[in-house]
Amino acid sequence: MSNKNREELRGLGQFWTPAWIAKVMVAYFLDGKQKELFDPAVGAGAFYVALKELDKKRQIKFYGTDIDQGVIKEAFNHKIFDNKSVVEMRDFIKEPPMKTFPAIIANPPYIRHHRLSTDTKKLLKQISYKYTGCDIDGRAGIHIYFLIQSLGLLENGGKLSFIMPSDTCEGVFAKKLWSWIGNNYCIEKVVTFESEATPFPNIDTNAIIFFISKNPRQSVFEWIRVKKESDQLLNYLLNKNCDFSDLEIIKRDTEEALFTGMSRRPTKKSQYKYRLSDFAKVIRGIASGANDYFFITRQKAEELGIPSKYFKLALGRTRDVEGNIITANDLKKLEEKGRPTLLLSLDNQRKEDLPKSLRDYIEIGEKNNLQHKALISTRNPWYKMEKRESPKFLFAYLGRRNARFVMNQADVIPLTSFLCVYPLSDDEKYINKLWQILNNPKTINNLKLVGKSYGSGAVKVEPKSLANLPIPEEVIMQAGIEPIYAKEQQKTLQKTLFEFAYY
Ligand SMILES: C[S@@+](CC[C@H](N)C(=O)[O-])C[C@H]1O[C@@H](n2cnc3c(N)ncnc32)[C@H](O)[C@@H]1O
Repeated sequence: MSNKNREELRGLGQFWTPAWIAKVMVAYFLDGKQKELFDPAVGAGAFYVALKELDKKRQIKFYGTDIDQGVIKEAFNHKIFDNKSVVEMRDFIKEPPMKTFPAIIANPPYIRHHRLSTDTKKLLKQISYKYTGCDIDGRAGIHIYFLIQSLGLLENGGKLSFIMPSDTCEGVFAKKLWSWIGNNYCIEKVVTFESEATPFPNIDTNAIIFFISKNPRQSVFEWIRVKKESDQLLNYLLNKNCDFSDLEIIKRDTEEALFTGMSRRPTKKSQYKYRLSDFAKVIRGIASGANDYFFITRQKAEELGIPSKYFKLALGRTRDVEGNIITANDLKKLEEKGRPTLLLSLDNQRKEDLPKSLRDYIEIGEKNNLQHKALISTRNPWYKMEKRESPKFLFAYLGRRNARFVMNQADVIPLTSFLCVYPLSDDEKYINKLWQILNNPKTINNLKLVGKSYGSGAVKVEPKSLANLPIPEEVIMQAGIEPIYAKEQQKTLQKTLFEFAYY
């Protein structure tokens, strides 16, 4: 396992659970009632090691499966597994066990959807239908299906402990997933971590532990935030009476948590009256389908001899904008640095009607088979580019703690590293005030209520979720600005609570 490179590890989703976390997760099953514990993604046996240490009387039998024979063998060589355990090489997705279990534990493989084959994706769809009765958005990674299938294999009254990335609660599929879980299972405890206490310091992900049982839903559950790595969490779960100052323990309303997302802190009823969609529209930047080809430097455009009217000024990387404003002068500087700033923006003109320089360039694209690339092949002709008005603000959405709204004074059109924000009024004063409101630290701080969080503190926000960004009323009042949309829709403004948490 140690000599695999990072790519191989990613392909198999092999990120081992640290001992302090494995013990915490095993502690959930030490209620004296459990006879058997199943780990569908056993790997090097982190949970079995913890079980041997904590289940002193060795009452709990262990069953594990994994697809990586090498890892299992190595664990056997290290005498990790013994006669109280059965471990087999088996694909949990393709060949799940034909029985149910009283207890299931896992750190499932974290393999993002774009690494999965079409056949695997088909199988995952079937799994989702079989257990939840609905289709989960295709962007869910394989870990989500490990959770669904494991919950499906739980006996009545059975218990499950899973450690998952926070996209489980924040991804586009989260609403459906948690509506199914919330209606059919009992969320007993959820553990989240401050970045200082992250279980996986080398991976940019926020981990969450779920303790769920197959019992009727309870109206409250315990939401625990770990501030520092220590024995306190284990002691707490083992009902020991000691110092728990490293933990924040909240009795949390299940309904609120299901709406807000369990990775996030509890939100209060009607805390926010306004959201970004009351002031502006949001659309993602342009997806060219092949930036290397369509998005080029001014120098290259000149060398190719393509007339400038076929290009639009564009911006590719968040790094290309330093502050909160981008001007024509900044674009010039980017050009001088040799950064691409021109996007080939053809419509559906016929090739033969275009100048020779462009026809030649289109042929270069065809020789490189660009017309067959996934996104490009949906366009007719293939070189037709998406269209956008240049937005007043660009939202740099995957910042390392520095998400911001950039005033677009350069009339550029952004590519997908940005979202386009179009204020609902053309009035200059309104636009300036809105820009201040959006960049107010209190507004920026709310991004975590709608975005996907990463271990490092970065937040990624999709267009729909940015439209749902709650804007504090005090910030609006200070700026003296009227929400246009809200004014038009006074009646519908009585929004349901927590509505903004989903997209
Ligand atoms: C994140 S590791 C966890 C291993 C171990 N349980 C731990 O907590 O340290 C996930 C494991 O899932 C295995 N895996 C990946 N796809 C699988 C599949 N379809 N069926 C069973 N195991 C799989 C990987 O080989 C890897 O060992």
